[in-house]
Order: sequence, then C-alpha cells, then structure tokens
Amino acid sequence: MSKELKELVSKMTLEEKAGLCSGLNFWETKPVERLGIPKIMMTDGPHGLRKVATGPSTGDRPSREATCYPPAVLSACSFDRDLLKELGAAIGDEAEVENVRIVLGPGVNIKRSPLCGRNFEYFSEDPYLAGEMASSFIDGVQSKGIGTSLKHYAANNQETRRWSSDSQIDERTLREIYLPAFRKAVEESQPATVMCAYNRLNGEYASESARLLTEILRNEWGFEGIVVSDWGAVNERVKGLIAGLELEMPGVAEPSNDEYIAAAVRSGEMKEEVLDLAVERILRIVFKYGGDDAKTVPVKEIDVNAHDALSRKIAAESMVLLKNDKNILPLDKKAKIAFIGEMAEKPRYQGAGSSQVNPFMVTTVLDAAKEYTDVTYAQGYNTADCDEINETLHAQAVKTASAADVCVIFAGLPHHYEAEGYDRTHMRMPEGQNQLIKAVAAANPKTVVVLHNGSPVEMPWSGDVPCILEAYLGGQASGGAIADILFGKTNPCGKLAETLPIKLSDNPSYLYYFGERDVTEYREGIFVGYRYYDTKEMEVRFPFGHGLSYTTFEYSNIKLSSTDIKDTDTLTVTADIKNTGKVAGKEIVQLYVGPKEKDDRLIQADKQLRDFTKISLQPGETKQVTFKLGKAAFSYYNVQISDWHVQTDTYVIKLARSSRDIAQTADVKVTSTVDVPYRATANTTFRDIRRMKRGNDFLKEVAEKFPAYHNINDEPDENNSNYGHLRCVPEFVPRQLRLMGTMQGTTTDDIQKWMDEKLNG
Ligand code: BGC
Repeated sequence: MSKELKELVSKMTLEEKAGLCSGLNFWETKPVERLGIPKIMMTDGPHGLRKVATGPSTGDRPSREATCYPPAVLSACSFDRDLLKELGAAIGDEAEVENVRIVLGPGVNIKRSPLCGRNFEYFSEDPYLAGEMASSFIDGVQSKGIGTSLKHYAANNQETRRWSSDSQIDERTLREIYLPAFRKAVEESQPATVMCAYNRLNGEYASESARLLTEILRNEWGFEGIVVSDWGAVNERVKGLIAGLELEMPGVAEPSNDEYIAAAVRSGEMKEEVLDLAVERILRIVFKYGGDDAKTVPVKEIDVNAHDALSRKIAAESMVLLKNDKNILPLDKKAKIAFIGEMAEKPRYQGAGSSQVNPFMVTTVLDAAKEYTDVTYAQGYNTADCDEINETLHAQAVKTASAADVCVIFAGLPHHYEAEGYDRTHMRMPEGQNQLIKAVAAANPKTVVVLHNGSPVEMPWSGDVPCILEAYLGGQASGGAIADILFGKTNPCGKLAETLPIKLSDNPSYLYYFGERDVTEYREGIFVGYRYYDTKEMEVRFPFGHGLSYTTFEYSNIKLSSTDIKDTDTLTVTADIKNTGKVAGKEIVQLYVGPKEKDDRLIQADKQLRDFTKISLQPGETKQVTFKLGKAAFSYYNVQISDWHVQTDTYVIKLARSSRDIAQTADVKVTSTVDVPYRATANTTFRDIRRMKRGNDFLKEVAEKFPAYHNINDEPDENNSNYGHLRCVPEFVPRQLRLMGTMQGTTTDDIQKWMDEKLNG
C-alpha cells in the first residue's frame, strides 16, 4: 500500500498535494478526480451524528436526524467497555448510511474543573477511565469501517479563551493526567485521526507543536493516522505542517493556506518531502475509510427503534443512584405518584454546541411512566426563569406533592448554563428549582430528585431528600431510561466518573482555573479530582466511583499472586463478589493502587484507579473477579529519566465500591529494576544516602571514621531526648562531617571525590 501511495503522490502536482492538506469545505476532504482520489466526509460526534443538512459548505444547523445517544458525561458512568463498543458500532452504522466516513469523537479531555462548558462531552476526571471508554468507543466505530477523531489533543480543559489560552503544565502532570487517555486510545485502538486542540500548551499552539504531534504522538505512541486541526485551530499553516498537522479543517476560502504550503516548498522554506509524507498519510486514511474496499457490511438503513432502544439501555445502565434512604426506590406502582418539574415534559438530554444532535425522537419521562402506571404532574417551575420563583407553579407543585404518597422532582441545569464556547462561572442550579425541591421535600418526606446536568451541581437540599438519581444528560431516550430505573425494571448500576464536590471552591483548580488573561497555570499539578479530594481527606458530596444499586454486594477473599514482585512482573489480584440482596444486579468493582506510606521521596496521590470490571450477579450468586497489574499500575512519570518509573515501595491494592468505600485491601512490595541515575553530593542527606545501593556500606564507613556518628545506621530513636540528636542524624549532610573535626581543612570537592569513589557510580 505504501509503495502504491508513494507512486500516487509522485503523480500529483505541487498544488494538488498542497490542496489535499485542507478541506474542500466545512466537512469534506478534497478529491483529485484525475487520479481517482475520492473525497471523504467527516462530521460530529461524539454521541451521535451531526451531519449538516443544508449542504456541506456551512456549519449551520439543522443537521440530519440521527440517534442522540447519551453524551460521554453519562456513558462514562457505565464503566462498561462492551457497552461503549456497542455505542460506537451503532454510531458507525449511522455514519455509513449517511456516507460519513469519519466521526469527530470521542473527546477525552480531563475534567479539571466542574466549570468547563464542554464537560458533558468528556468522560472523566480520571485518565484511566477516560482512556478505557475512548478506546472501546473507537473500537466500536472503527469495527464498522468508519474512522474516528480523538479530540482535543491536548490540554484543552476550558472554553474561556479557547483559541488563545496557554495551558501551562509541568511534565509529570501532563504525562500522568492530561495525556494518558490519548495515549491509551492511540496505542490500543489507532483512531483514524487525532484532532489537535485550539489552545497552546506551554507556550506552543497544539497545532504547531512538533513535540505533541510528532515526538509524542507518532514516535512514542506509534500513531498511524492523520492529525486534523480542530475547526479553525491553525495558526501558522506551514509551521503546523512541519510539526505534524496533516489536515486543516475546515477548508477556507481562497486564497487559502494551500498556497502558503506550495510557496514554502517553492522557496525552500519547507522540504517537499515533508509535504509528500503528509499527503501519503492523508491518502492512506482517505482510501482506508473512503475507498472502494472501505465498507465492511454495508448498512442500507437504520432501524431507528432499535437504536432508540440501545440509547435507552446505555442511559439506564449508566445513570447513578446517589442516594436511596429507606429504599424508597424502586417506586411502588400502586402508590400515588407525583412527577414534578418542567424537565419531566421538556427533558434536557444533551449539551449545546458542535455535538448537538437532531434526534429521531425524544421520550419524556412523563410518557415513559405510562408504560408502568399513572402519575400526577405539576410543572413546578419554568426552566427559563432560572433564579426566579414562579409562585403559582411553585404552590401548585407543593399541593400536588402533599397529595401524593411519593413524588419525583425532575430538576437540573437549563440549556444555556453549559455549552461549547464558554464556561460556567458557578456550580449552582437555578435558585427557583432549589427552593422548589426544599418546599416539596418539606411537604412530602418521600421525595426523589432526578438531576439533568452535564457537570456537577451544588445540592444544598441533599440532606432534605431521601433519594437522588443523577441522570446527567441521557440522550433522546433518557426519559425511558429514568422510568426503567424508577420503576425497577433496570437495577441502577452506574458509578460516578467524577467527584461531586460540595461547593465549587473545594475544587483543586478553583484558585487558578481561568488563569490570567491568556495564561492558565495548572498549579494543582497531579491533584485533579479524587486524587486531590481523597489525599486531602476532604468531605465531598458524593465521591468518585460512587453509585448505589437495588441490591448489595459483599467483597471477600482478596488474594495476590505474590506479595513481593519486581516492576517487570505481572501481579494477579482475585477476589469474590457476592450479591447479598434480593434482586439481580451489576457491580463495578474498582481497583485502586496507592502507596502504603507517604514519605519525602515523591509527591503521590492517596490512590489511583488502575483497573475496573463490571459483573452481573443473580441474588445469592458469587463470582470471582481477576485483575492483572503490570508496571503501569505502580508507576509515576519520572522527569529525570523521561520515563515511567516504579519507586521501590510497599503499595496497597484497594478493591472498592467507590474511591471512598474500600472493601478489601492487600499489600504488595514492588521492587524497581531500573536505577534512576543519582549522584550524592556533600549536601545529600544521610537519609537519602541510606537509600542508595552502596549507601549502608558508606554509612558504616562514616560511623567508623567518625565516632560521633556511631549511630548513623540506626533508625531514629523516639525515646532519646538528647536534643533529638539521634532523630536528626538522618537529616545531616556529609559536609557537616567537618564540624566533627576529622575532615577539617577539606573542601567540598574533596568530600565529593571521596563520595564518588565510595558511593556514587
Ligand atoms: C469543536 C470540535 C468539533 C468541530 C467541528 C469545533 O468547534 O471544538 O469538537 O468537532 O468544531 O464541528
């Protein structure tokens, strides 16, 4: 293929080659008819197709009808790789029917703050979960011969100043938090394209960063597809092309950047081979996804109802039951049930912006409830009123609630509160809705709140209501999915893919989030989401990974294949999970790893999610879960060696129902097989010297030579009150030996030479 492509490239004129590096219009690549090069169409993404109906030359709505599946904010809560694959495959089928060859998704940016206007399009605050979900989604779409676009690469975590802001992130944080989801998806699933972000990273536009687009993406991770610009992300086209940005989207009106590319070749500013390579890569993707052989099993038309049913299933398997005091849910169909809140009849089921799908149909929960029983309904509020209280609607709702045995309030964020293109400035729900929830809960103690939101909200009423269902934004069938959960047809099994903090200022990025003008420093570093809340032992509203079921699960019998391994070994972890309740259910078993003890060598989070599995259990049934952990489960990114490294240490394996509900633990010692070069100096503490390979021998010599240091190899003695002398010895440094007399008259260089001979090297 590559030889044929090279031949084809050699037949193209300079102008044709430059032309191929940008779109024909808003959504298509350029064809070269005389050489049989087809054009291909790409459209959003990520939770359904948004193929613009008014012609490809504009980004305007309306788009053609498509199934609106749950956005990533909800589907991530399924923690279900197979389900995400199924979702991807269904979108792949819809793409094929519409002759769309690349779907612009998934979005894997990390939820750094609840404020990001596009959080609903992203999976998680946790890079491992985001990577797993993205990779499964890509596998699903691409199994249908349709390409994907992994976006927005990289460090695009706010909408404020999204075209100009500079995300300033230290290398370890970048590698551990903001890149892993991209890396996972590229290495495991090879998306057809990666979409570079609008913003800058450490001073360089993502669209011009050779480090991001070539060194890391291609050379380190082995990316084989093409990089496409986010729509309008190109700053300097030639610079971008040299850095590794193959395709500019959308195509821009003449004179276009194509001419700059051709001119750069002519003037010698850019070698023609750079252009040839980009063109060869573009052709490979165009033929792979748009050529005659591209189609797998051609789909002629969509079974709209089957796709709606799939959308309903995904939503129901993802929604998170946050609270269910006194087991008020599932609802008793014979009870007098009141539904309250405008969102019951006008649901909010997706976010605004480029991902907004024009759905085939929308099911409201009011309609879906009819499949189960009759309910009374009161509107309660006008979504558009926001902080205003509509006294009439409010009073009617309270009356309706008082007359019912149980009532369910549908509440959440109005459409304009969260959208692509801007961020929220607070985490509050409209005050009118908050007041309504309080009033209804006071009138009826059996009150259930169902939330529709794309990002966390403050819940000042959470102590007043016994039940909360986090429905997030559930796609076109969200009403059906909610009804299935409320009436017990589906046993809820979603778990939170993000922490729900009590208030905005609890969030670790709070002090720095919007940055200063165009500069946003990620000063919280690796402490994002639960890595922060859990390490700080802060109270949160609901922790990462939390989610209840109508049954209960018991964890027991954790076993490790070994308690002492090398970083090159694989550790097998097994445990038994039993359904101890009365109904069948699914449990997401989460595996976290954290250091047993913190010390002064490395800043670490209390725990990190390293694997998970979702199992289905009948009442009374027990299943064994098995996890295989390799080096990645214990590593941190070491900037000194520019590589992942395991610190020799004891780690705790935690099997958990959530990041705060640890059910089983086991310790394992992991020994590194990689030495990080380290040269002790006259100013290195004896504590650090002791940790070196030849450290103990060296310290013995010190103790022999300098009797005052006879106890140097001893652990500090807590009971010795001799002005803490014994305790502070580990803090001493070799140059202090001069104080003891014997090395008087030596220079620091002399000490260094002695240390190099005895200790270093
Ligand atoms: C968004 C992308 C989207 C593209 C095409 C951009 O504004 O950032 O996520 O895929 O438009 O609609």
